[in-house]
Amino acid sequence: MTKPFKTLDDMGDVAGKRVLVREDLNVPMADGQVTDDTRLRATLATVTELADRGAKVLVLAHFGRPKGQRNADMSLAMVTKPYAQVLGRPVRFVDWDGAADAVAQMQPGDIAVLENTRFFAGEEKNDPQTVAMFAELGDFYVNDAFSAAHRAHASTEGLAKVLPAFAGRAMEAELDALERALGNPQHPVAAVVGGAKVSTKLDVLKHLVGRVDHLIIGGGMANTFLAARGVNVGKSLCEHDLTGTAEAILDAADAANCTVHLPYDVVVATEFKPNPPTRTVNVHEVAADEMILDVGPNAVEALGDVLKNCRTLVWNGPLGAFETPPFDVATVSLARTAAALTQEGTLVSVAGGGDTVAALNQAGVADDFTFVSTAGGAFLEWMEGKELPGVAALSR
Ligand code: 3PG
Repeated sequence: MTKPFKTLDDMGDVAGKRVLVREDLNVPMADGQVTDDTRLRATLATVTELADRGAKVLVLAHFGRPKGQRNADMSLAMVTKPYAQVLGRPVRFVDWDGAADAVAQMQPGDIAVLENTRFFAGEEKNDPQTVAMFAELGDFYVNDAFSAAHRAHASTEGLAKVLPAFAGRAMEAELDALERALGNPQHPVAAVVGGAKVSTKLDVLKHLVGRVDHLIIGGGMANTFLAARGVNVGKSLCEHDLTGTAEAILDAADAANCTVHLPYDVVVATEFKPNPPTRTVNVHEVAADEMILDVGPNAVEALGDVLKNCRTLVWNGPLGAFETPPFDVATVSLARTAAALTQEGTLVSVAGGGDTVAALNQAGVADDFTFVSTAGGAFLEWMEGKELPGVAALSR
């Protein structure tokens, strides 16, 4: 089937050609060490394939938010060595001063990382001069950074308009998975949406109620919905000013035949700290000095049954305060059910967003999901139904 975007398969002969590859090298670092190299590994398929096909591979990426200024603390020079280790190949760091000469000296199969694109103010402004300056270094453009595709920047969007543009392998895998999860999914579809605050996910919820059959709401944001339904949530994190909005979302779900699942039993404590005394209670029995910190076991079991009857699952955000034990139990349990159903072949499961990936890793099931996105903001914007500029610019 023809994909809506061109891929590396459409590039033809790239031997000796200069290929600008936009990757997301925005990795967490502490004391000069990369603390999670997932994003570096995600680039492997594209970068090694192009190098093996004889291209001169020029990796373009941002690091942090230097706001258009040079900033030694955000130089991609720091990432180049760990990146070379992950690739298992030599990688040269190229600063913008003298970049043209450095690129002219590259041989087919060579790989270089260019300095942080955000050192130019024109990057975030998508300024045509900055686009032209980047474009001069390449014959082709490959965007492999889905996690930066919600930005309409020179290196994520502008370049696709001035050079022959293709999706890299990681971008392609991401877009294929997202299409299976929400674009053109098998029904019934379930969505798990969790996290602390409903205010950060209003657009996600509004979009999903019209597209999924089951909406499972967890995390602190479930409390706002419970409060909207008249439940006394005690001291729980709750955005009381948003109960009206929550009600409107529940009404929209009703109208769209989407079943919303809120927890009916919950794990509560009077203090939020590791391993405090807890009670598991019906949602109507939360005391005034207690806070809801996780979904209860009966609700989790019922949610597992919902997933057993679904064909597709899209997951963003944990069900409880999963970083603090024992409030990870519901998230871990439902994630394991989803992973098992995926492995049995009855469920397509796609998850994304920073906390979600950490939660699935904690449950030890990230590899058993159909696809786990490394994107944060871009994944959320996609769940909101927004067009991502970096993706739109690649469309045929
Ligand atoms: C991310 O870390 O989510 C991406 O690299 C995008 O970074 P940004 O939010 O600074 O644009």
